[in-house]
Amino acid sequence: MTNPFQILDQPAIQPKTFYIETFGCQMNAHDSEKVIGTLQHEGYRQVQDEAVADLVLYNTCSIRDKAEQKVFHRLNEYKRMQGEGKKFAVLGCVAQQEGAKIFERAPYVSLVAGSASYRNLPEMLRRLEAGENRITGLDDRQTDETFDTEFTARSNPHRGYITIIEGCDKFCSYCVVPYTRGKERSRTSESVLAEARRMADVGFTDIQLLGQNVNSYRDPSGKMSFAEVLGAIGEMTGVRRVRFTTSHPRDFTHDIVEVIDAVPAVCDHVHLPVQSGSSAVLKAMQREYTREWYLERVAWMKAAKSDISMTTDIIVGFPGETEEDFEQTLSMLAEVNYDGVFAFKYSPRPNTPAVGMAETVSEEVKSARLNRLLEQQRERQRVSYARHLNTTMEVMVEGYNHQRGQIAGRSSQNKTVNFTTQQPILPAVGNYVNVKITQTFPNSLVGEMVQ
Ligand code: 5AD
Ligand code: SF4
Repeated sequence: MTNPFQILDQPAIQPKTFYIETFGCQMNAHDSEKVIGTLQHEGYRQVQDEAVADLVLYNTCSIRDKAEQKVFHRLNEYKRMQGEGKKFAVLGCVAQQEGAKIFERAPYVSLVAGSASYRNLPEMLRRLEAGENRITGLDDRQTDETFDTEFTARSNPHRGYITIIEGCDKFCSYCVVPYTRGKERSRTSESVLAEARRMADVGFTDIQLLGQNVNSYRDPSGKMSFAEVLGAIGEMTGVRRVRFTTSHPRDFTHDIVEVIDAVPAVCDHVHLPVQSGSSAVLKAMQREYTREWYLERVAWMKAAKSDISMTTDIIVGFPGETEEDFEQTLSMLAEVNYDGVFAFKYSPRPNTPAVGMAETVSEEVKSARLNRLLEQQRERQRVSYARHLNTTMEVMVEGYNHQRGQIAGRSSQNKTVNFTTQQPILPAVGNYVNVKITQTFPNSLVGEMVQ
């Protein structure tokens, strides 16, 4: 007897598969989570091997020349993977910057789309499936819309991102972002809070608000300020930590410090890129603040009740940067006493105002300045991290290093804490535990779990 539920002679429908690779900042990482969710909703299944995927996507970064070179190197490798029905897509900042030129350099690419056009992804995918092979989504500073989707495929079940503002209107003279990510546009506080609520309801305890200039957030409904959004998420049941990145000094207001002090869940960490300690260089960079303006914001943070950890970004070797300017950057780092510095050699970017400025700092001098800066900073962090010795802090468990017999986690200040426990059962990933710090390094802390 045949099984009445068996449908004969019908092969199972195989979902289309995709592979995605992501470069660049946290905004890109989170965009990819949204792209993955959208693809899955459209019936695609993610695979980890590009060789077997029907659709290969590459989410790109163009912040510095090196990042961009990587993209074209990768595209060359795709060439060898071409096959019947296999499609390639370039997303992100290089896609927006290079546009249709990518089809000339890599004719096997069928879709080129910048982040400001991702909300049209379902439509672009349908065109791709219909056989179109030169599809572009290049909303260069045209759109006022944000990419909101319920279908975000979050890669971590405890810590999740929410983009609250997209794009950038600051036009720092070295930076591609205003050209690659479009106009500044904020989501309504209602939609941000609803997303946070949904995340907290399914177990997310650590929420990170994202934006190229996150604190330039302007609620389109006019209801809430950035600090109020931070506070409201911090007070939600289930939320243990709220972080935010990246802040622009120009829009850094005092109420941000107040909310860090008032709401325990708002993390004691501010990433505030200064770029240079010289007001002359800051002017040439079109940063719209001076050294003194920046230091005033730092003084607010130092006067706070909380021990606010500060980190920053620096560019060395900007056109016109003299030895004296550079020394002002070094003195700035000494004065602020940052807990972390991301430093980069200046890299001229297409379309930016600075690309026309004569480069006055040689590659050798750039490298030498970068090394001096990083060396001094390392020594400074050796001292500043030592302030945590013998203190007890709350740590969120992130994973295990079985080889070293350690548990890895992160503090409210976003510091890496590696620790051990006498307990027979290890705390689960995502748990919050107290750790007494027994040893300190320039970039991490070591300790022992306590009750
Ligand atoms: N060259 C070097 N560094 C850059 N950044 C941005 N644009 C450039 C550039 N053209 C750095 C800045 C920024 C960080 C994300 O990257 O420090 O804050
Ligand atoms: Fe890279 Fe900037 Fe684009 Fe992020 S926004 S991916 S850092 S170019």
